[in-house]
Amino acid sequence: MDESGMGVSKAPISLSQSEILTALKGYKSARRSEYGMGNTMTVVLSDYNDNDLNDLSKYIPTLK
Ligand code: HEM
Repeated sequence: MDESGMGVSKAPISLSQSEILTALKGYKSARRSEYGMGNTMTVVLSDYNDNDLNDLSKYIPTLK
């Protein structure tokens, strides 16, 4: 998680838990695309539910 999304985004580990959760929910609902590549994340998250997104947003900051 110290890598950016395909070189276009910020590294998820540089974001706070709430920023990560907001981003993941936005991608999951296909409403977010900060760098024109939101669809990539929407596909990545297609098998994750809201609970998974919550867990992920808490887990990523622990990787610092
Ligand atoms: C479960 C694993 C993943 C998590 C938790 C995650 C998390 C995130 C977060 C938090 C952002 C927002 C960064 C920002 O605001 O600058 C982001 C953006 C992005 N990620 Fe992921 N990511 C994951 C897997 C992947 C994978 C596997 C790919 C590539 C196949 C990918 C490609 C991207 C791209 C292209 C963006 C920018 C999308 C845009 O235009 O807004 N991510 N990701």
